[in-house]
Amino acid sequence: MFLSVLQSLISLCFVAFSVASPAHHGAPNSFFNATQIIENQELKSPYPYEFPVLQNGSLVDSGQFPMPRCHGFKLEEATIDQLQQALSNGTLTSVKLVMCYMKRIYQTDGYIRAIMEINPDVLEIAEALDDERAHGHVRGPLHGIPFLVKDNIGTKDKMETTAGSWMLLGSVIPRDAHVVHRLRESGALLMGHATLSEWADMRSNIYSEGYSARGDQARSPYNLTTTPGGSSSGSAGAVAGNLVTFALGTETDGSVINPSERNALVGIKPTVGLTSRAGTDPESVIPESHNQDTVGCLAKTVRDATICLDGIYGMDPRDNYTLVQQAPAGGFSKFICNKDALKGAKFGLPWLSFWQYASSNQQEQLLDLISLIESAGAEIINGTELPYWQTIISPDGWNWDYGSTRGYPNESEYTYVKTDFYNDIVAYLADLNNTDIRSVADIVQYNIDNVGSEGGIPNVHPAFQSGQDGFNASLATGGVMDETYWQALEFCHRTTREDGIDAALYNNGTQLTALLVPPDVGQTYQIAAQAGYPMITLPAGINPDTGMPFGLALMGTAWSESTLIKYASAIEDLQMSSGTKYKRTTPMWLDYTSKNIPVNNV
Ligand SMILES: *[C@@H]1O[C@H](CO)[C@@H](O)[C@H](O)[C@H]1NC(C)=O
Ligand SMILES: *[C@@H]1O[C@H](CO)[C@@H](O)[C@H](O)[C@H]1NC(C)=O
Ligand SMILES: *[C@@H]1O[C@H](CO)[C@@H](O)[C@H](O)[C@H]1NC(C)=O
Ligand SMILES: *[C@@H]1O[C@H](CO)[C@@H](O)[C@H](O)[C@H]1NC(C)=O
Ligand SMILES: *[C@@H]1O[C@H](CO)[C@@H](O)[C@H](O)[C@H]1NC(C)=O
Ligand SMILES: *[C@@H]1O[C@H](CO)[C@@H](O)[C@H](O)[C@H]1NC(C)=O
Ligand SMILES: *[C@@H]1O[C@H](CO)[C@@H](O)[C@H](O)[C@H]1NC(C)=O
Ligand SMILES: *[C@@H]1O[C@H](CO)[C@@H](O)[C@H](O)[C@H]1NC(C)=O
Ligand SMILES: *[C@@H]1O[C@H](CO)[C@@H](O)[C@H](O)[C@H]1NC(C)=O
Ligand SMILES: *[C@@H]1O[C@H](CO)[C@@H](O)[C@H](O)[C@H]1NC(C)=O
Repeated sequence: MFLSVLQSLISLCFVAFSVASPAHHGAPNSFFNATQIIENQELKSPYPYEFPVLQNGSLVDSGQFPMPRCHGFKLEEATIDQLQQALSNGTLTSVKLVMCYMKRIYQTDGYIRAIMEINPDVLEIAEALDDERAHGHVRGPLHGIPFLVKDNIGTKDKMETTAGSWMLLGSVIPRDAHVVHRLRESGALLMGHATLSEWADMRSNIYSEGYSARGDQARSPYNLTTTPGGSSSGSAGAVAGNLVTFALGTETDGSVINPSERNALVGIKPTVGLTSRAGTDPESVIPESHNQDTVGCLAKTVRDATICLDGIYGMDPRDNYTLVQQAPAGGFSKFICNKDALKGAKFGLPWLSFWQYASSNQQEQLLDLISLIESAGAEIINGTELPYWQTIISPDGWNWDYGSTRGYPNESEYTYVKTDFYNDIVAYLADLNNTDIRSVADIVQYNIDNVGSEGGIPNVHPAFQSGQDGFNASLATGGVMDETYWQALEFCHRTTREDGIDAALYNNGTQLTALLVPPDVGQTYQIAAQAGYPMITLPAGINPDTGMPFGLALMGTAWSESTLIKYASAIEDLQMSSGTKYKRTTPMWLDYTSKNIPVNNV
């Protein structure tokens, strides 16, 4: 994969010279003096950027892979607003910006494998967007800003859309996913596809998070040995490592929130139906379950993530779930607030439902941050439980088949997800050209026929220890939506919606602003996923044993994004203005030589 990035970069560099620097044709000879250019490129010890300093003790590799200035501009950690300013005052062009990110990808992607594929047309698009800007036409806050999409989000261009699987290489999709179409219209610059956990984790139940046959092992730039979170693993690693400004991910059950919180990012997982999956027929986002799938944003600040959300939400006739959406006119950015908004807010802590499962160290750090939120004027109410927490929340961590574990498949999320996948993937595949893969049975067979690379049988491939038990389970449903299916769907909806999150928010008559939860506890996003309700995670702390970040998240009712964005931005402003250490920190690149598969699940 990296080789193909390399090849496209080499050819792109020529494009850059020819299209982006016409002024240089008349420049002094020295510009074209190859001897001089090569001399200038020679690296001189101590190699501040290109080579990491060999680890010689605990934590000495902190500060690895610093980022050189981009034409004098500090691109590392730059926000969309700062980029817009630099683009409008002439410090940068989008072409220059892309080239700087390309160099960053060269510098770091061999380590973290966040990039699946670079858009071969990115520089030409950048040049056209620069041209529009030069002519006074700026489409909006996303004009010329580079982004990546997870490789299960369809882009109708020269790139492949494969969900990380070799079996879809060369398949031809009908059109851009609606979210991609919208971002292109808003002037955002599609730089490429990001790696992911193959098939967004639908394929296996014991696997190496972030691995796909086509994308290799995505790693977190905070600690390369440890699970980067998933399944939007490359989207998260790329944004966290400053390989791109923002990225899209998809979530069925945790796939936006989990990698975001493990990479010190802001992740917005919208209400199911706020962002189009481009319809169940035809599909453009490779599906898992139309009941829970949603497209979300990963970025370094709430404002950046919100600008992204503004660029993707909206009704789409191809996805009827979007037709009932409740969204504010003019988008969500206007809800961004400062810390003053915290005065009088009422946040609930569902302690027994979720908090009790956080490690004591996380509890300690997060409660410090919550004290700070309290001192800024918010009221914190402990014990705001989901009424059925003892029934529906697994005490042993994330488990999407917890109903069956309890002996009730008719009360289990996995019952309808595996059935939905069977049907939804057929609808997706039906719209592809140039492929023989048409069904779950075809998918299973391909993975068996190519077991060495695809791990279709247990214990053959180190990344897929349980083989493809997820696909087998889906195949076994035959896609039949029987009584058990409908009971499970109804049960999961009721116990997580009106008798779940909404009841906890109502708190016996005291309406709460939002629930504050520890999103490293997988049961939090699991419940939001079943409800189809939104969730936002903010960077909060660092695990002292691994150097891995964890977040603090807000949960709310359906279509409450504007509230969640308001209070998430207020908390972020408090983090930035108070001098607290509980906020986003940049990656440490711990254990950067590690290539362990599977990654450690800690
Ligand atoms: C190119 O640069 C080298 C090294 O700086 C110099 O010796 C040489 O004269 C230059 N060649 C031309 C054609 O300018
Ligand atoms: C070990 O790391 C320290 C701190 O980065 C550095 O100053 C020192 O030179 C390193 N020693 C060796 C032998 O590499
Ligand atoms: C342009 O804007 C960038 C980003 O705010 C800033 O760093 C830079 O100094 C500005 N340059 C000029 C010439 O105003
Ligand atoms: C698929 O192929 C058919 C027949 O050649 C063509 O009509 C259709 O437009 C193609 N669809 C896509 C998505 O390329
Ligand atoms: C990275 O994480 C692993 C667990 O996956 C841990 O054992 C290791 O100590 C961490 N590395 C550093 C340098 O802290
Ligand atoms: C979308 O359409 C399907 C089939 O046409 C229907 O079963 C479903 O209820 C609709 N969903 C919504 C949210 O309108
Ligand atoms: C919340 O209440 C539980 C008891 O239900 C208690 O164990 C926990 O310490 C309390 N947390 C806070 C932050 O007060
Ligand atoms: C899945 O089914 C295939 C046969 O269809 C079998 O070879 C494989 O072992 C099964 N189990 C798992 C866990 O992959
Ligand atoms: C699930 O099935 C059991 C009987 O096995 C029944 O008691 C229970 O009410 C069912 N749950 C739902 C949500 O229908
Ligand atoms: C509401 O109050 C009743 C009676 O005091 C109690 O049993 C119940 O657990 C409370 N529910 C919530 C969500 O706090």
